[in-house]
Amino acid sequence: KSFQSFDAKVVNNQPSNIPSEYVWSDEDKPSTDIKELQVPILDISSFLSGQDDHVATSQAFRLVSEAAKLHGFFLVTNHGVQEGILARAYKCMGTFFDLPASEKQKAKRKWGEISGYADSFYSELPWKETLTFRFSAEEKLRSGTETVKDYVSKTMGDGNEEFGTVFHEYSEAMNTLSLNIIEFLGMSLGIERRYMREFYRDNDSILRLNYYPPCKQPNHTLGTGPHTDPTSLTILYQDHVGGLQVFVENQWRSIAPKPQSFVVNIGDTFMALTNGIYRSCLHRAVVNKERERKSLAFFLCPQMDKVVKPPKELLEVSGQRLYPNFTWSMFLEFTQKHYRSDKNT
Ligand code: SIN
Ligand code: FE2
Repeated sequence: KSFQSFDAKVVNNQPSNIPSEYVWSDEDKPSTDIKELQVPILDISSFLSGQDDHVATSQAFRLVSEAAKLHGFFLVTNHGVQEGILARAYKCMGTFFDLPASEKQKAKRKWGEISGYADSFYSELPWKETLTFRFSAEEKLRSGTETVKDYVSKTMGDGNEEFGTVFHEYSEAMNTLSLNIIEFLGMSLGIERRYMREFYRDNDSILRLNYYPPCKQPNHTLGTGPHTDPTSLTILYQDHVGGLQVFVENQWRSIAPKPQSFVVNIGDTFMALTNGIYRSCLHRAVVNKERERKSLAFFLCPQMDKVVKPPKELLEVSGQRLYPNFTWSMFLEFTQKHYRSDKNT
């Protein structure tokens, strides 16, 4: 069923409760009593500069590895991404979501497609709007894949070029950062330095902007429902509002935002690539009464036809394959059929 376009400002100003489409089952409704999850903070400046202090690096490998085996979430600081790029992307995102619904609908996401604007489709609607782009690492651009800029100009036309320019610039910065982090993760597993970077070199990644308006009944709904990321690595940039929660040891736990840092988490595809040693963990986002929240998630994914198969060093550890070979395009198709993409990703 198609749904009237989502305007939280209008909905929140009505005296009645939030529309029933946004009310989640009792089992999924968030509780207010959630403890904070302590996750390691990885300072990657010396790793990036190549002047590794061996003691500090092996300590960082150990800390991140511990978290990756348990839930796959950690923070990254001193990441080398210019503040101007972050500020431009955050501001531009606000400009987009402030546009009138009719303008945003021009970029509407179609069924089965990755790119586009989404408010809502079904029941148990997420309390948010999103704008998603496909991003292909540089090498692929030359062979004519649709870029962030192409999508914006195709759908939104003249006068909106800034969205394309800014989100492309942001994706490039996230591509660089995510390759550094994935290299770090590979090395923390004892894999040769360039292996992971090579594996993800021609990646077919995704950028998603999430806008969570304030909600007068935040305990009845969710901004993003419980899900694991099917992708490889997620780099989340967010404002100071908070709302991300992770399901660890049978409990929902919050992750507090930390200025100038990214929240990084491992997705299903990287879990498969490490033969299950590093974990992809269930998470969700809650909303609140007072403040809107914005986040930008960059999802590093392998190139579409790359076969996901653990390197031999990792098979020697456990001796047994946990997952069959698959390509990202096969898995993406599967998730689009079987995951509730409106609800989850
Ligand atoms: C967030 O906005 O905090 C996370 C959204 C997601 O996991 O998809
Ligand atoms: Fe996620």
